Amino acid sequence: MGIMENQELKKRLSNIKNLPSLPMVVNNVIKLTQNPDSTAFEIAEAISQDQSLATKVLRTANSAYYGFPRKITTINYAIVVLGLNNIKNIVLSASIMERFSKADASVLFDRRDFWKHSLLCGIISKKISEHIGIKNSEEMFMCGLLHDFGKLILDSFLHDEFVSALQMSKEKNITIMEAENSIFGFNHSGVGALLLKKWSLPPSLVKAVEFHHYPGESLTAFRIASIVHVADYLCRRIGIGSSGDNMLPMLDKEAFKLVGLSSEQIKGMSHQITEEFNIATGFLNVGEQDL
Ligand SMILES: [Fe+2]
Ligand SMILES: [Fe+2]
Repeated sequence: MGIMENQELKKRLSNIKNLPSLPMVVNNVIKLTQNPDSTAFEIAEAISQDQSLATKVLRTANSAYYGFPRKITTINYAIVVLGLNNIKNIVLSASIMERFSKADASVLFDRRDFWKHSLLCGIISKKISEHIGIKNSEEMFMCGLLHDFGKLILDSFLHDEFVSALQMSKEKNITIMEAENSIFGFNHSGVGALLLKKWSLPPSLVKAVEFHHYPGESLTAFRIASIVHVADYLCRRIGIGSSGDNMLPMLDKEAFKLVGLSSEQIKGMSHQITEEFNIATGFLNVGEQDL
């Protein structure tokens, strides 16, 4: 039985009245980027329907993360230069980061630290994918970036219980996931996956989020879930950002084997990753004014 089949989880989520939906503009852009017949012009048109989104896309496209030497002044040009996958990632992450930058934030759960953890996990997931020769490593960036997305939903909509979980994790020295399991009967991986599925996002993203703690439980997405799992673990080892607890989770040995990194390689990568993280602030700046 998949994590998302948890009846309690389904019941609790369906009882939340104002559960966020993916903005129409974002939905349109994602659909367009998935259609090979779409033109850059059509996608630029769709993004320009939302001026604040258009501004964010330009700002991110011009950030050091992409390191493009000439200033990108139009969305159309940004699409041509960065490609559809990057544009899709920027649009989706900009809209989610903006929606969940500060609202209802609790003291124990710092949104800025959360997004740092998420961004780092995205970067590492992408690096690992490149290392093992996965073609679409940009997709893996998104899986890493959104792996703990469910925590934002819990913090925003089931706030008091989530705060109890944060406190329990601190007091008992257990991971947030374990504390959530004991308080809710489910945890953020199922919450995030269920919502992303509701938003009709790619099944691979949904599965990576659903199984990032226990990749071995996934029959169809062991590889991508393993990558995110190992990336999440390495984030905590590197110690940038925080996802609400600082526990080092159990590392799944099979997942680690699949990723095939030696400790030497990890050491080498850590340095590179920290550097890349420092220039990746273009992503964190997406909702800067709200953070
Ligand atoms: Fe997690
Ligand atoms: Fe995490």
